[in-house]
Amino acid sequence: MSSAGPLQTFPDALSSRDAWLDPFDWYAEMRATSPVRRDPDRGCWDVFSYADVKAVLGDDETFSTDPRNATGFQARGEEAFMLETMLFQDPPKHDRTRDVVDEFFRPSAVKSLEPFVEAETNRLLDEAMADADGGEVDLVEALAYPIPVIVIAKMLGVPAEDRAQFKQWSDTIVEGTAGDGEGDAEALQQRQMEAGMELANYFRDLIADRRDDPREDLVTRIVQADADMTETELLGFCMLLLVAGNVTTTNLVANTVRCFADADHWPRSGLETTVEEALRYRSPVQAMTRVAREDVTLAGQRVEEGDTLVCWLGSANRDGAQFADADAFVPDRRPNQHLGFGYGTHYCLGAPLARLEATVALRELLGRFEVTPAWDELRPVRSSFIYGVESLPVRLTER
Ligand code: HEM
Repeated sequence: MSSAGPLQTFPDALSSRDAWLDPFDWYAEMRATSPVRRDPDRGCWDVFSYADVKAVLGDDETFSTDPRNATGFQARGEEAFMLETMLFQDPPKHDRTRDVVDEFFRPSAVKSLEPFVEAETNRLLDEAMADADGGEVDLVEALAYPIPVIVIAKMLGVPAEDRAQFKQWSDTIVEGTAGDGEGDAEALQQRQMEAGMELANYFRDLIADRRDDPREDLVTRIVQADADMTETELLGFCMLLLVAGNVTTTNLVANTVRCFADADHWPRSGLETTVEEALRYRSPVQAMTRVAREDVTLAGQRVEEGDTLVCWLGSANRDGAQFADADAFVPDRRPNQHLGFGYGTHYCLGAPLARLEATVALRELLGRFEVTPAWDELRPVRSSFIYGVESLPVRLTER
């Protein structure tokens, strides 16, 4: 996922590091006082309640996902390739693009990756323990960070030796300037442009290779698709699949462990519902944007054609009107119709994969080790829509 579109800056209320680490009180206040409001500083609307977020995401006729429909939209160079992906396409074009890879991401197809995810998790844990001082490891660096790249790289057909470089590119592309007030926005923009170009070159070579030498992988599927895709679309496709699942899944794994620590609950079974609850309670993607295609009234507010709306998934997921005991982490919560993977047409393509990776990684981790939190202060990920922590130190003791 990219921050393409107008979600470049945080609302003032979330601009400090502590506020972004725990935005939930602010969300609650906003749901109570101004569930749909216009922020003149950012020139966009914020949507906070479950019902309104779901209504916006579920209505492709009224709300577009293409930021180019926004009044005053200005493209940032490094985002150009992302704009040509399904994430920013409306139906019917969106549906044709998504169909190309849909079958690779169905739960049944993803299930076949389970032995691979399990083996890679254990390899990473062995490596981490071999280097660990007194069993202390950073769970983000050791496990949550590498596992999604390893898996998507395999699915795409990217050789294992390139994955460290991959991780770096994909992180740079989603990095934002919000979160801790540090960093020079221009320098970041420059780095993002370079990373985007390097990644594009890499995929260009891989695409050419698969045209001549087809294999059983996603890149081959994409180049063979009869979908009239331009070169930019082909590239965007590959890059979206690489980028969308990495930081998000990393943070799902880390956020779930944070939930376990807060609740002092370290489950060895029932992980499926627990991961689902972590997606609700500490949603890795906190916000998504849409653009109004026509004038529309939302929660009594007059939204005009071309206005941008920021839909706060993280707030919708804590809405007491939808969830009983919304501010409690309830590991066996059922039903749990959270919006952590979005809703409607753009509902996360990789949801079955992310669920599998998180469940298997945590199952292996908790099956082998007793996990003791070893962090004092956490630093939020520097992004304006990804929610998670930079690192998560824990002590692992073999069972
Ligand atoms: C915990 C992990 C993940 C979270 C929280 C997450 C979240 C989301 C959300 C909220 C959307 C909706 C975007 C919108 O409505 O504008 C989305 C879309 C998408 N996600 Fe994920 N995602 C995760 C993992 C993955 C993975 C592993 C992949 C693939 C490898 C992936 C690929 C995609 C794609 C391609 C879309 C666009 C779908 C479309 O436009 O139809 N995601 N994701």
